[in-house]
Amino acid sequence: MKVSFAESARPEGAVAVAVFEGLRHSKGADALDQATDGAISRAEKTSRFQGKSGQMLDIPAPAGTEADLVLLAGAGKRDAADALSWEAFGAQAMKAVLCSGAKTLMFDMRALDAVAAARAAFGARLAAYRFDKYRTKLSDDKKPSIGAITVLCDDLKAARSAYAPLAAEADGVTLARDLVSEPANVLHPEEFARRAQQLGEYGVDVQVLDEKAMQKLGMNALLSVGNGSNFGSRLAVMSWMGADDPKAPPLVLVGKGVCFDTGGISLKPGAGMWDMKGDMGGAAAVTGAMRALAGRKAKANVIGIIGLVENMPDAAATRPGDIVTSADGQTIEIQNTDAEGRLVLVDALWYGLRFKPRQIIDFATLTGAIIIALGHENAGLFSNDDALANALLAAGKASGETVWRLPIGPGYDKLIDSKYADMKNIGGRAAGSITAAQFLHRFVGDTPWAHIDIAGTAWKDKSDDAREPVWATGFGVRLVDNFVARTCED
Ligand code: BES
Ligand code: MN
Ligand code: ZN
Repeated sequence: MKVSFAESARPEGAVAVAVFEGLRHSKGADALDQATDGAISRAEKTSRFQGKSGQMLDIPAPAGTEADLVLLAGAGKRDAADALSWEAFGAQAMKAVLCSGAKTLMFDMRALDAVAAARAAFGARLAAYRFDKYRTKLSDDKKPSIGAITVLCDDLKAARSAYAPLAAEADGVTLARDLVSEPANVLHPEEFARRAQQLGEYGVDVQVLDEKAMQKLGMNALLSVGNGSNFGSRLAVMSWMGADDPKAPPLVLVGKGVCFDTGGISLKPGAGMWDMKGDMGGAAAVTGAMRALAGRKAKANVIGIIGLVENMPDAAATRPGDIVTSADGQTIEIQNTDAEGRLVLVDALWYGLRFKPRQIIDFATLTGAIIIALGHENAGLFSNDDALANALLAAGKASGETVWRLPIGPGYDKLIDSKYADMKNIGGRAAGSITAAQFLHRFVGDTPWAHIDIAGTAWKDKSDDAREPVWATGFGVRLVDNFVARTCED
C-alpha cells in the first residue's frame, strides 16, 4: 500500500476527516462542510454520530466535492488524542472503505500535527492487511479496492520523517503476520530459515545452522523436538549491528519457531489443532522486528535467534520419559512432548548468551495457561530484572502491544524438579505459565532476561481492534521496535 503526503490535492476516492467528540470539526471536516454547503453538518444532525472513537459516518458522493465518499471518522476527545488514538482513527477509516469500491483513501489532516498524520497512515496500513494468497475464488466485491493512501498535512517534512520509521514497522508487522498465517505444509522449518535469509536484502546478516551444526554444539533439547519431523530443524541467527560502536553488547531476541505443534507423542486433541500452524509466532515476531529495525536503520545492535522445528509423532519422535541434555549441560526429563517450546527456547537462549548480550528477550506461544490468566488482551511478561521488565511494560503501553508481569521465583522450582534428571519439562496444572518461565530462568544465569508468552496475543479469532484485520496479529514487532527506540538508541 503506497502512502504519500501532500499539502493540498484535489479530493478523490474516499476522503476521511477527523471529528472529535461533541462534533468538533477538524479543519478538514470544516473545509468539506463548506464545500458541500453544509452536507456534513446536516448528516451529523440526522445521525447518532458524535465523534466518539470508533464511530463512523459515511456520506456517499455529496454534491460540491469530487470525492466518491466522505467519511467522518470519530477521533475521540480532542485533549486525549495521542499516537495510539490516531492509529485507531486511521485503522477504522481504512476498515470502513477497504472494500467499498473507492480506489484511494485520502486523510485530510490539515491543522493537525505531524504525529497525527503519520500515525493515521500507519494505522490505515495495519488495517489494510489481508492474507488472500490462497483464495482463488474471491468475488470482486470482496476484494480490497483501496490501493493507495494520501495524507494531506501542513508540515510535509515533519510528517514524512514521522512516518518513515513507522513504514518500516508496518513492513515488520506485515512480515510477521504473513509468517504466522502461512500453513505448515508451506512454512516448515527449512522454508522459514529461507525466509529469514531474505532479510539479507535489508542489510541483516543471516546465518543458518542445520541439524549437523546443532548436534556439534550439543543442542539436544531443541533437536529432540524435531526428531519426528520429515523436515530438518534449523536455527537462524539474524544480526543487525546498527549502533555507532558495532562491538557494543547487543540486545538479543529469541523466538520459539515451532512451525507446527501436534503435541508429538503426547498428541493434542484434533479440534482446533489447525491453529498450531501459528506456534512459530515468537519466531515471526523476532523476524518481523529485525525487518522493522533494519528497515528504519535503527542505531542499535540487535541479534534475533529463532529455533525452527516441527513437533510430530513418529517412530523416531521423542517419547515421554526420555531424558535429553541441553547445550549448557543440564539434563531434562521430557514428561510431556507437548511442552516442547521450552526445549527449543533453552538451547536458542544458550546460543544467544554466547554473544554476551546486554539483555535477552524471548517471545513464545508457550502456554495455553497464559490465555486462562490474561485472555487475549495482554501478553505475559516474566523477568529476572526489574529495569528490563519496566522498560517492556512502558514500551507495551506506548505501542499498544501491552504486557502484564507475572512472578517467577525459587518457590516454583520444586514443581519442575525431576526424580531422574535436573528438571522435568512440565510442572502440573498449577501456575502453568510460571513453571514454564521458571524452567527458562534456569538457563539464563544473571543476564537481564525477559520472557514474553504470546500464546494469547499472536493470533485472535476475532478482534475489535481495526489494526488487527486477520487472525495473525504480528504481536511483538511494535513492542520490540518501541523498546529498542526508547532504550537502545540515543
Ligand atoms: N504451543 C502450545 C501452547 C499454546 C496453546 C499456544 C494454545 C497457543 C494456544 C504449547 O506447546 C503447549 O502445548 N503447551 C502445553 C504445555 C503443557 C503440556 C504443560 C499447554 O499449554 O497445554
Ligand atoms: Mn506443545
Ligand atoms: Zn507449542
